Amino acid sequence: MRVLSGIQPTGNLHLGNYLGAIRNWVKMQDEMDADSACFFFLADLHSITVHEERETRIRNVREMAAALIACGIDADRSVLFNQARVPAHAELAWLLNGTARIGWLNRMTQFKDKAGKNREGASVGLFVYPVLQAADILLYQATHVPVGEDQKQHLELTRDIAMKFNTDFGVELFTLPDPYIPKESARIMSLRDGNAKMSKSDPSDMSRINLTDSDDEIAQKIRKAKTDPEPLPDVASALEGRAEALNLIGIYATLTESTPDAVCAQFAGQGFGAFKPALAEVLVETLRPIRERFVELKEDEAALDAILDKGAEKARSVAAPTLSGAYEALGLMR
Ligand code: ADP
Ligand code: TRP
Repeated sequence: MRVLSGIQPTGNLHLGNYLGAIRNWVKMQDEMDADSACFFFLADLHSITVHEERETRIRNVREMAAALIACGIDADRSVLFNQARVPAHAELAWLLNGTARIGWLNRMTQFKDKAGKNREGASVGLFVYPVLQAADILLYQATHVPVGEDQKQHLELTRDIAMKFNTDFGVELFTLPDPYIPKESARIMSLRDGNAKMSKSDPSDMSRINLTDSDDEIAQKIRKAKTDPEPLPDVASALEGRAEALNLIGIYATLTESTPDAVCAQFAGQGFGAFKPALAEVLVETLRPIRERFVELKEDEAALDAILDKGAEKARSVAAPTLSGAYEALGLMR
């Protein structure tokens, strides 16, 4: 069993990233006995698909590393690194470009969303982004890839690429990975619109809880979160059509390791005036230690760079045999 996941180092982490992705990474790390069974990386090569200033990128990679460690990723047990320090990612992505089909990439909804109306003006990198993601995963023979629901399609593409490569060249080089998407925490929605996902690209900061928000900011955002005037029902199934209510109850359930049904049972008959303070308290208590560790860690750039260097060294050694196998299968002599 090998766990692997990546996240783009693009500024502020929010509650959706934490509950939808990183917290699951930490859980998986803590469940695995063996050292180096988990690989977690900052997808800085992916981040060039959108323009960003050099200094911003440098800062974002370090800050995201600090955030992951603050959330509980232990760089002594897991392999923590950034892609750019491991050239095998870019190399394998190029080799897989021979296998991936334009028709497959044309179906990727993340590309359509991110390119928007101006497809011709999007970078080529944005289009082939999922091939680099496939390379990230296949290089390490990952079996379990913890991600949010929005990444399911990229995982399916990764399997298609792996299968076609193995078949076309008559090898058993790549392991087919499975996405790991825990049900309760799959999708955290915006605090302003229960039908839109919480995202760093939402122009309203009130729509999301950032991992750097102060206790007061968190409490205020929950106080102002959109809801409805109805009291909470005694079972979660009765929340249908109440997207905002369902989202807040889902967040509470996830944070307290409970279920939406149990939370409904606990608050049945009460209004949001009673539920919101309880939710704010759980959020504040969960996020405060993370924020405090993060603020401390991000000041020590040398320590962060040393952690990423060490992780990359390990990653390079684990990736090497698969990359060689791909060159070999293709008849590319080096
Ligand atoms: P954003 O949508 O804010 O740009 P990213 O696309 O960088 O976030 O996502 C980083 C990771 O966090 C991915 O694994 C993604 O699936 C997860 N994620 C992002 N937003 C949410 C959300 N609202 N709910 C659950 N998971 C999320
Ligand atoms: N595309 C992922 C996202 O938007 C990030 C990512 C890059 C990733 N490479 C990966 C996730 C490999 C899992 C495995 O969040």
